[in-house]
Amino acid sequence: MYTKSGNLSNNSVWTRYWSDQSTFDDEWFAYHVNVFLENSEELMDYSAQDRVLDIGCGPGHLLEALAPRVDKVCGVDVSSKYVRQCRSRLAPFRNAQVEQLGEDYTDLSVLGEQRFNKIICLSVIQYYRDKNDVRRLMAAVKRVAVPEARFLIADILVDTGLLEDVFYVVRSALREKALLRTFKLLWRAQFGQYARFRRELGLLSFSGEELRKMAREEDLESEIINRRLTVNDNRSHIMIRI
Ligand SMILES: C[S@@+](CC[C@H](N)C(=O)[O-])C[C@H]1O[C@@H](n2cnc3c(N)ncnc32)[C@H](O)[C@@H]1O
Repeated sequence: MYTKSGNLSNNSVWTRYWSDQSTFDDEWFAYHVNVFLENSEELMDYSAQDRVLDIGCGPGHLLEALAPRVDKVCGVDVSSKYVRQCRSRLAPFRNAQVEQLGEDYTDLSVLGEQRFNKIICLSVIQYYRDKNDVRRLMAAVKRVAVPEARFLIADILVDTGLLEDVFYVVRSALREKALLRTFKLLWRAQFGQYARFRRELGLLSFSGEELRKMAREEDLESEIINRRLTVNDNRSHIMIRI
């Protein structure tokens, strides 16, 4: 089965995967982040005063692009490998910070008293252990956000089959003229370590209504974004207003 609804038996396995993965290379991250930046520009409306938090920042391409344009960028991730890569990518920027998340990855206390007004979580929650962790994340983000902050959870897996997901990725690759890069990634994803983890653990998928309900339970307003933001045409996105 491609997706599972949670209750995974081995709680930290996806986290371990991300500490030592070779499916997604740097070229792919750069491509995926470029598409996201272009398509989400209007929605995020960045300005020089912004303080941006990227949850699950990976190797840091998004923050690298934003650092020259905003007041502060901060990335957090569970993977020590990506924390290292992101720190080295952001080393030239004095307004950048990267922190490692612990076993309770929804605990953002590592950020101390800092507050942010643009918060992004891109292609991450499908790797959570449990759906309820997303609600905990919303509560944690509320604590580090200023009033009226925007919190975008993007590239959320919806409950479709693997073939449909592949179809949309390939369609998008045709549009972006990125077929070779995409086929290389799909090949690695189908036959490498990623496929084994996915078979064993599944990936979490969410409906828009389910996520909006969690936001309501945290007294947060939200809106489902029904347009393409990432290279996966059939992913969904939710904008939460703090
Ligand atoms: C597909 S990559 C996306 C990276 C980056 N957001 C991007 O879009 O380029 C998934 C990232 O989420 C991180 N991750 C996985 N589970 C996480 C969790 N529970 N909390 C925070 N980050 C997590 C991984 O270490 C990895 O960097």
